[in-house]
Amino acid sequence: MKLFTALLAAGFAVMAAPASADIFADNGCIGCHDADKKKMGPTWKEVAAKRAGNKAAIVASLKDGSKGNYGKIPMPPQPKAVANADALAAAILGTK
Ligand code: HEC
Repeated sequence: MKLFTALLAAGFAVMAAPASADIFADNGCIGCHDADKKKMGPTWKEVAAKRAGNKAAIVASLKDGSKGNYGKIPMPPQPKAVANADALAAAILGTK
């Protein structure tokens, strides 16, 4: 059972990593964000912890930008990403 769980977890990691990395690359997020490496913006882990279960807050931040929630640097609105906001929010909230 332990082995099965480990294999399952490994399978998910392999499947999940490229998919979520791609959506952030495609939408121009990775210059400022990474799953767990601090760049100009907060890590997806930080955002997932702060906005747990609150997809609407993430969608709103892409539409309107965000400032003062994580530090001094603001994020401008991300108009190109608005069409994919739902998928992006789900991927961010799924970051562990
Ligand atoms: C120019 C750099 C930059 C780019 C490009 C960028 N961000 Fe950000 N992002 C930031 C910064 C800086 C913050 C922190 C703002 C704050 O403190 O409120 C942030 C915050 C966020 C937050 C947290 C919002 C909140 O209020 O909880 C989310 C979600 C987010 N970004 C998603 C994205 C996504 C998705 C993309 C790609 C479509 C993206 N960002 C592109 C710099 C950027």
